Amino acid sequence: MRLKARFAGPLTGAARPPGDKSISHRALIMGALAEGETRIQCLLEGEDVRHTAQAVRLLGARVEQGSDGRWIVTGAGGFNQPSETIDCGNSGTAARLLIGATASYKLSARFDGDASLRKRPMNRVIAPLSQMGARFDGKQNCLPLIVHGGALKGITYRSPVSSAQVKSAVLLAGLHAEGETVHVEPERSRDHTERMLGVFGANIDQVEIDGALCPRVRASKLRGTDIYVPGDPSSAAFPVAAALIVGKSDVRIEDVLVNPLRLGFFETLLEMGANVSYEERRDPIGEPIANMVVKSSKLRGANPPPRRAPAMIDEFPILAAVAAFAEGETRITGAAELRVKESDRITLMVDGLRACGVDAEELPDGLVVNGRGPKSVRGGAEIRTLGDHRVAMSFLVLGLASKEPVIVDDADMIATSFPGFATFMQGLGADITAL
Ligand code: S3P
Repeated sequence: MRLKARFAGPLTGAARPPGDKSISHRALIMGALAEGETRIQCLLEGEDVRHTAQAVRLLGARVEQGSDGRWIVTGAGGFNQPSETIDCGNSGTAARLLIGATASYKLSARFDGDASLRKRPMNRVIAPLSQMGARFDGKQNCLPLIVHGGALKGITYRSPVSSAQVKSAVLLAGLHAEGETVHVEPERSRDHTERMLGVFGANIDQVEIDGALCPRVRASKLRGTDIYVPGDPSSAAFPVAAALIVGKSDVRIEDVLVNPLRLGFFETLLEMGANVSYEERRDPIGEPIANMVVKSSKLRGANPPPRRAPAMIDEFPILAAVAAFAEGETRITGAAELRVKESDRITLMVDGLRACGVDAEELPDGLVVNGRGPKSVRGGAEIRTLGDHRVAMSFLVLGLASKEPVIVDDADMIATSFPGFATFMQGLGADITAL
């Protein structure tokens, strides 16, 4: 389906974004590995998470929705031989976390995904899991591949990339390995796996290596528990960005996860002069939550430090769109990982921005956007998204503040992370319609 976004006056009101995608995947996987029942409130019901739910069913867990809307996972205390291929759809998180979690069980599991996921590198999890003792069959370290699991030995793994997916694969494998498993990465990535493993009763702590605290896990039995999934900051990023660039807007995005390892985009916005504040901070579940209050703002270009990249890895596309409405240069570096996301997000964002009349340029590990301030963006283009959900949402937000409407060629994949995106934005007054 094609969607069109155009300017229609200020955005106002309040809304809660859907549940956090990272926490939703982890709750299903750990619930399935645990003994007993896990009840999950506000699970993201997006396509990516549905693939994880179906995967853990194939691996032996029961997953059903209760009459109160909560999802109930009844774990088998480990994983069993699946009867068919595990289809991870578009989701790198599903693939990498499940490959790690299955690798320590005596089973052979075939993993596959859609055309985009089949192109994404899996060697980053195959390498540490092979060192631990798992075996793999497949071509060129991509999906489809078969994991031959079995008795693993714990390792200290020094990952060349900062990736929560790699870290989670290693730690989940370590839950059922001999000895201790430690993960070391260049910059700290999101820590939801570590936090949630503690809630499920795992034997997890931190150890100092080269001056940094690194997670360490030992063989553990998980116990079913209750999980509450806060709103996803990576989804909140889109209405927050829209309110900043559409003049006279004033919105409240409620119940958002504000884990500091997810806030790089919002920190950068503050440096750009954005009027974004947090209200009613709370921490009922081992993860911090707050409401975000946003008012349209005059923005200046920014130069986020490369070490911040893991804390805003999914928000670079929307940052590039916002940068078009700031005064001056925004220079994004240290973000080469963007080339191996659901699409090559550097090339797609630069192509789309140029099509909308914005001065933008590719770097090997990022991009430069020369913003010309509010009301400067022409728009008036149909954007090629290659089925990338975050690229599609970024250009729809850009269209809300452009002089001419912006069309995205295929908005279906938005349902992988933000089901109901158009309706959510319409609720705040945005003009986003199907063509
Ligand atoms: C995620 C980690 C990030 C992020 C993805 C979700 C996770 O990927 O881009 O959307 O839930 O662990 P990387 O670990 O590849 O950076």
